[in-house]
Amino acid sequence: MTALGKLLRTTAFRLTLVYLSIFALFAAALLAYFALNTRRMINDQIVRTLDSEIADLTRQFEIGGLRGLMIAVETRAGHPGSNLYLVTTRTGDGLVGNVGSLEPGVIERTGWMETAYRRIDEPEIAEHQALVRVLGLSGGFRLLVGRDLEERERLFSIVAIAGRWSVAIVIVLGIVGGIFVSRRVLRRIDAMSDKAQTIMTGDLTGRLPIAGSGDELDRLSANLNAMLERIETLMRGLKQVSDNVAHDLRTPLTRLRNRCEAALRSARDEGDYREAIETTIEESDTLIRVFDALLMIARAESGEPRGGMETFDAAEIARDLGELYEPVAEEKGFVLHVKAADTAPVKGNRELIGQALANLLDNAIKYAGTAAVDAEGDRAVPDIAVTAETKADRVILSVADRGPGIPAADRGRAIERFIRLEKSRSLPGSGLGLSLASAVAQLHGGELRLEDNEPGLRAVLILPRADGLQKAT
Ligand SMILES: Nc1ncnc2c1ncn2[C@@H]1O[C@H](COP(=O)(O)OP(=O)(O)O)[C@@H](O)[C@H]1O
Ligand SMILES: [Mg+2]
Repeated sequence: MTALGKLLRTTAFRLTLVYLSIFALFAAALLAYFALNTRRMINDQIVRTLDSEIADLTRQFEIGGLRGLMIAVETRAGHPGSNLYLVTTRTGDGLVGNVGSLEPGVIERTGWMETAYRRIDEPEIAEHQALVRVLGLSGGFRLLVGRDLEERERLFSIVAIAGRWSVAIVIVLGIVGGIFVSRRVLRRIDAMSDKAQTIMTGDLTGRLPIAGSGDELDRLSANLNAMLERIETLMRGLKQVSDNVAHDLRTPLTRLRNRCEAALRSARDEGDYREAIETTIEESDTLIRVFDALLMIARAESGEPRGGMETFDAAEIARDLGELYEPVAEEKGFVLHVKAADTAPVKGNRELIGQALANLLDNAIKYAGTAAVDAEGDRAVPDIAVTAETKADRVILSVADRGPGIPAADRGRAIERFIRLEKSRSLPGSGLGLSLASAVAQLHGGELRLEDNEPGLRAVLILPRADGLQKAT
């Protein structure tokens, strides 16, 4: 599209044209009204003057007869720049007056007329317009009184010319102004589209320009920039996930593959094969769990589950999980205490919050036992406490153990994806449990906190409390 075409197509320019037409029409109408009214006013004035002259002259005729009238007309017609006067006989022959010629038939009729005329002392060609009134007098005489219309026409033409000029100026100024405004808007839109192009080609850090005037384009830019910000965050998350997948899943997959290859090469009997296949299945299960966890985290971080949120009782979840994990905990030598409030209403995704709390419980059972035995040398019975309580506008779910805990410096890091602390490497796990718990908390507008339980770790899920809960019966 050419630059001009683009300009003509802008909303600003079209609006200008619309306003311009309205203004031009208005100006034209105003001037026409003014011109016509002026003309009418002048006409009225002429009519009034002539009427009074006619009244004067007919009085002269009544008093002094034809002679009196002729004398009066003679004196009046002699003044320079005087009105037009003519007295004729019934056959139309001029008796006295300053009119040289008239349009044919004018003198035969009576009443008001506009006619071309020539003064008696003027050369043949000069013709002017006049407004005249012809009156029949007794005895068949006729009296014509009139006034030249040049003044009226001149005034009318002055107004008409001024009108044409002002409409022309309005149009020119309007178009120039329209082009100026449209070009400014166009320049900003072009800058925005250019930036959008570079962003589309992959530079997600780019932002649309903001002029700082706070106008509608600025607000649009600001909103689009906020959108870009969000997209960038999501993309960064996605990139991190794919990096993690590439890095952390490749290793176990390679290991899996190598083990199969080794089995193929060196297995001697069916027992060897069976063992190799069993390990393979085991490792595949781990991988599947990792994939599931990764997907769940990605889903939580994308905010997708926000659609299907319901109000449910988190205290109930704590009680259920306590029951579920009790046998495992007991088997490992823990005493599991559940201290849950009657209700702890949370609006959210029940499945995800349940998974998050399960991850914390899983960690406590997995990591607390080792130290309890190592540090004290004997099997003191370590406690694991699960609590669910409401505090002001929040619901607090916590799992506290009395194991080695996490040193303060490592607490932030432990939440990151695939991070497993040095001393836990020997235990099974993938380093995703806390990441998921944290992502779930953030999804619900809450947070995951790791605290010192002195000794041990207290992992706390803080969630916003929901308004009410319809207790399921
Ligand atoms: N209750 C706990 N006591 C001590 N260390 C913990 C505890 N919970 C988590 N950790 C540490 O944080 C790391 C990350 O935990 P997590 O994300 O659940 O991964 P995973 O359990 O798969 O290793 C663990 O590897 C462990 O080092
Ligand atoms: Mg874990």
